[in-house]
Amino acid sequence: MTTLQHPAPATFTDERLQSLAAAHATPLWVYDADTIRARVERLRQFDTVRFAQKACSNTHVLRLLRSLGVQVDAVSAGEIQRALHAGYDARGEHSGIVFTADEIDRATLELVAQHGIPVNAGSVAMIEQLGEHLGERASGHRLWLRINPGFGHGHSRKTNTGGEHSKHGIWPTDLPAALEAIARHGLRLVGLHMHIGSGVDYAHLERVCDAMVQHVSDVVALGHDVTAISAGGGLSIPYREGDASVDTAHYFSLWDAARRRLAAELGHAVHLEIEPGRFLVAESGALLAEVRAVKEMGGNHFVLCDAGFNDLVRPAMYGGHHAISVIACTNADVRAELARGAERVPTVVAGPLCESGDVFTQDAGGVVEAREIAPAETGDLLVFHDAGAYGASMSSNYNTRPLAAEVLVDGATSRVIRRRQTVAELIALED
Ligand code: LLP
Repeated sequence: MTTLQHPAPATFTDERLQSLAAAHATPLWVYDADTIRARVERLRQFDTVRFAQKACSNTHVLRLLRSLGVQVDAVSAGEIQRALHAGYDARGEHSGIVFTADEIDRATLELVAQHGIPVNAGSVAMIEQLGEHLGERASGHRLWLRINPGFGHGHSRKTNTGGEHSKHGIWPTDLPAALEAIARHGLRLVGLHMHIGSGVDYAHLERVCDAMVQHVSDVVALGHDVTAISAGGGLSIPYREGDASVDTAHYFSLWDAARRRLAAELGHAVHLEIEPGRFLVAESGALLAEVRAVKEMGGNHFVLCDAGFNDLVRPAMYGGHHAISVIACTNADVRAELARGAERVPTVVAGPLCESGDVFTQDAGGVVEAREIAPAETGDLLVFHDAGAYGASMSSNYNTRPLAAEVLVDGATSRVIRRRQTVAELIALED
């Protein structure tokens, strides 16, 4: 039986979530493996699906994706090490791991050198440092160029990664310098990459595809070849009721057309990659929290739970919307009926942190909003939906709160894929 008020994986029944919360305590991250499998299937038309692991970097999730033939993107030495730990390597023309960044530190230079990991460079400085660090090893080391096409788009200003206000990517006028550095160091250009932000809109997408064709033509005119292009990530998911799901077939058709135009121009096949994070994992995940206090403050009804923005920061950081369901645990029979019914209460849902912004129902400007949710009492469970992407991976230890545990549900089975951190572990770092 489920009383959840938002689409959720079929395995997320009230009983299942209640028993997971009882067994592992709250706050608790739960992921459904079948949802991840289903999302991968929707992108099979692309030659390579490369998971932007910043969305959810748990090594067990990476292993699951690897078993499905999905490759991985890493943006730090830590993410490279997670990928290696999960069994990925840089073998094959379309390497299991690509390192994408706008700058590269010394430790990461050595890591990519040791493992032969292709670098997706967002600055000319990165190319120079890579070439210098590799020295004689530079010959044939694979490189992508992340291009900032001069415009961007995103669900919030903070997730727009194109245009002159964004720090990301190589500005088109730097392209000749980037190509000259590649040639001088003997690096091998594989392809061009563009990611202009998170949140799809097809008008922008058409512009990005046109820009990709144009920039590849510029590269060819400067005497270089390109065998692959990457569409980046950014596919949105329906966080709110009424939000459309991405039409992945349409999405593919636009990129496929761009790839075909290029193949005709270049006279050889062009490999097409896509690099989503959110699309693959957001809907698979939920954050479970227990209601610990209910109170009236002037005109506002507050429900306070044991998860805070140290766990799920998206609402506080971007005004990110996560649907919230209530699983009645107190007076369960009567109240489950209420939750199933139409009764909704305008509620401000907040966490335990000693900070006013620790509110899950707020807009992008930080204005607290009351949201209509089912009535909740102390002891009930709250389910924050669609929290599988940029949830656990953005958690912090603020207020000395240990990182929450993560559980992967796979059909009838479930297992802990990260145990709960302890305060002793945190303090030990300072001993
Ligand atoms: N590729 C690159 C180069 C990226 O920078 C990103 C995201 C992705 C792929 C994956 O984007 P996605 O498919 O997940 O939209 N923390 C924010 C999102 C930040 C995205 C940063 N880059 C959020 O919670 O919405």
